[in-house]
Parts: sequence; C-alpha cells; structure tokens
Amino acid sequence: MKKALITGVTGQDGAYLAELLIKKGYIVYGLKRRASTFNTKRIDHLFVKNRGDETNFHYAYTDMTETTSLVRLLKEIEPDEIYNLAAQSHVKVSFDTPEYTANADGLGVLRILESIRLLGLEKKTKFYQASTSELYGKVRETPQNENTPFYPRSPYAVAKIYGYWITVNYREAYNLFSCNGILFNHESPIRGETFVTRKITRAAANIALGLQKKLLLGNLNAKRDWGHAKDYVKAMWLMLQQDKPEDFVIATGITTSVREFAVKSFGYVGINLVFLGEGEEERGIVDHIDHERYERRIGKKFAHIRKGDVLIEVDPFYYRPTEVDLLLGDPTKAREKLGWEPKYNVEMLVDEMMDSDLKMMQKEDYLKKGGFEITPQIEDIM
Ligand code: NAP
Ligand code: GDD
Repeated sequence: MKKALITGVTGQDGAYLAELLIKKGYIVYGLKRRASTFNTKRIDHLFVKNRGDETNFHYAYTDMTETTSLVRLLKEIEPDEIYNLAAQSHVKVSFDTPEYTANADGLGVLRILESIRLLGLEKKTKFYQASTSELYGKVRETPQNENTPFYPRSPYAVAKIYGYWITVNYREAYNLFSCNGILFNHESPIRGETFVTRKITRAAANIALGLQKKLLLGNLNAKRDWGHAKDYVKAMWLMLQQDKPEDFVIATGITTSVREFAVKSFGYVGINLVFLGEGEEERGIVDHIDHERYERRIGKKFAHIRKGDVLIEVDPFYYRPTEVDLLLGDPTKAREKLGWEPKYNVEMLVDEMMDSDLKMMQKEDYLKKGGFEITPQIEDIM
C-alpha cells in the first residue's frame, strides 16, 4: 500500500484529498496543528469510517514553522507521496500577518524539501506543492498558462512565489520528483467561511430564511476562475502519477465576477438581484421574487423580502491594499498531459454550495431555538 502524507489535512483541500487517496487504497497520514478548539470537522468522518486496527487514516501534530517535528515525521513515515497543502491561505489576512505568512507558506516548503534530502528520500518520495493563481497577480496576459510571468500582489502571493521556485529548484538541483500545481480558485460546501464564495452562499441562505438582513462585501468587480475542490484534488494526485515531474495550471477556463456570483447564489432561492450605483455606493437590490422557486427551495411560502429591499452593500473594510482584478486560467496542458477535465462548472458549484448552506442554516436555526443535535445516521433514516 502506498503511503501519502498530507500537510494541512484539516483544510478544505486536505479533507477532499484524504478522502480520495483513502478510496484509492493509500494509507494516509494527515498533519495538523494544535488548535484551542476542535479543528477536525472536515475529516472526522474519515476516522469514523476507518475506526479500529484496520484504520488507514492517521494524523500527527506539526506546524509548518517547525523543522524538527517535520523531519521526525518524515523519518517515521517515509511517505511515497507528500502533498504540501498547509498554508496561511487568506490573501487579506496576509497583509496583517506578512512575516508569519512568509514563514509558513514560503519557508515551510523549504523545510519539507530539505527534510526529504536530509533523510535520503529523494528517490522514494514525490512532492506536490500547492501553488496558486495568485502568483499571476497583476496579470501580464489573459488567459494565464504555465509560461505567463508572475506579478504577485500580496504577502501571501510573494510567500507562495518562494514556495514555487524552491520546488522547481530542488527538482533541477537534486533531481527530486517535485512539482507545482498552479491552482486557480476552487470552492465547495466545506470552503472556509471567510472566502468570498462561501461568505455569499451562507449569507444568501441566511437572508432567504429570514436569519440575516444584509451582506457586506468588498470589491464586487473582482473576477475569478472558480472551480470545485473535488475536481482539483484529483489533478494533484494525477501530477504525482506522471513519469516526470512538471508544473500544471488547473482551472476551468471561465471567469466570473463577485457580483455575478452573488446574483447566481441569490437566484438559487428565487431572489433576483439587480445592482445599482457605483463604487462604495453600489447596492444589490431585490428586483423580483420567483415565488415558485423560493417555495421549492425553502419549503414554505415567501414572506419577508420585498422588491426594492437592499440586500448587499459595499464595505471598504473588505478592500485589499493591492488587489488582483482578474484571474482566468488556461488548463490546456493539464487536459493534454494529465487527461484532467473539471466535472463542475460555476453554476453546479453554486447549486451545491447553496443547497448545503441552506440545510446547515436550517439546522443551526433549529438548534438555536432549543432543538437537539441528531446524529448523521439518524438524520439519514429520517
Ligand atoms: P485552507 O482551507 O485554508 O486550509 C489550510 C490548511 O493549512 C489548514 O489545515 C490549516 O490548519 C493548515 N495550516 C495553516 N497554517 C499552518 C501551519 N503554520 N502549520 C500547519 N498547518 C497549517 O486552504 P485550502 O483552500 O484547503 O488550500 C490548500 C492549499 O492550497 C493552501 O496552501 C492554499 O494556499 C493553496 N491554494 C488554495 C486555493 C483555493 O482556491 N482553495 C487555490 C490555490 C492554492 P487549520 O485547519 O488549523 O487552520
Ligand atoms: N474574502 C473576501 N471577502 N473577498 C472579497 C469580499 C469579501 O467580503 N468582497 C470582495 N472580495 C473579493 C476579493 O477582494 C478578491 O478579489 C475576491 O473577492 C476573491 O477573494 P477570496 O475569496 O478571499 O479569494 P482569493 O482569490 O483572494 O484567494 C483564494 O484563491 C487563491 C487562488 O487564486 C485563496 O483560496 C488563496 O489561498 C488562493 O491561493
């Protein structure tokens, strides 16, 4: 059985990748950092399904800012494949914590690569680095491919540039099987709540249920090439199954603005928005309600929102000191060499996220009103 080590296993991609690799018959070692509250919500089901002596999912504590525990774990596990997904992954937060972000997201990559070398695992261990479309930043050409020059626009992207180049350098200098996946934005129902897609789908669900009045957003004009994390973790695995290590752009080839993403999300529950005004004065206003759709999605008659209600406002708090205006990836190389194609488009992504958030909000509201927690098994039977 192949052994895979995943850093950042508690994150969105870590959880999907762990699930994929377990299904493929790997023994998976997930690395997580200590937190003062539970941080394993996304992977708890993997422990339950594989409980007992036969478990093929293990975890251990480490931190990307500490070399010693990384070396010790690599020595103990001697993994066939390492997927380095751990990072301070929030672009806006990186402006507040630039030094920490450089340490975890930049030097963290070096720590793993050096550990591989130190332990003489160069011939055995393949390495995947979670690189990002943020490297393109202030884009030099559109769409962006593997040859497009980089122009990072945040401490996060600058840290990730180091991770990108050190991965290339160790490949060229020491013959390591190390490659970069240059992944464009990918989302899912388990996306972190402060990334814009999940912030929008949670708010649209809450507003439709009458649990929230307004959504405050930053730059509505930003455009992103949004795919589904499930498709993207498959690409990570494919990259490590090739005969030689290479870097790949993973993207859908379609870009959508934050504003359009909001229109699609609210549209899912029958609330049709129109945007009026400009800059900080722009507002997302109810244009009309599709009552039949609302009733179908929410399960009750529509009551609390009227045409003309303002549901979205701009709050400059969410602006970034330097912004990435447009990302659009060209995944031709991945299609031709990896045989990779995304199954999801942005509409399917919105539908799945909205559906999941509606269920979650209904459950949270039920609990808040004095309901009791029911186990997933019981819920399934009901
Ligand atoms: P995520 O949900 O934010 O997960 C990040 C993971 O890294 C979490 O498990 C987090 O632990 C862990 N982590 C953070 N700092 C750490 C540290 N100092 N030591 C150890 N672990 C640490 O991110 P994601 O969306 O899954 O993304 C996975 C990777 O792909 C990241 O490197 C990200 O930068 C990169 N990427 C993401 C996208 C995207 O659109 N999702 C696109 C391109 C590249 P906690 O759970 O304890 O916070
Ligand atoms: N988070 C957030 N919150 N973003 C907002 C908001 C808001 O209220 N309003 C507008 N935006 C805009 C941001 O300014 C940005 O242009 C865009 O929405 C997307 O922001 P995020 O969802 O935070 O993602 P990101 O593109 O900055 O970074 C994500 O994708 C990268 C790949 O391109 C992260 O997952 C990174 O880790 C990843 O590398």
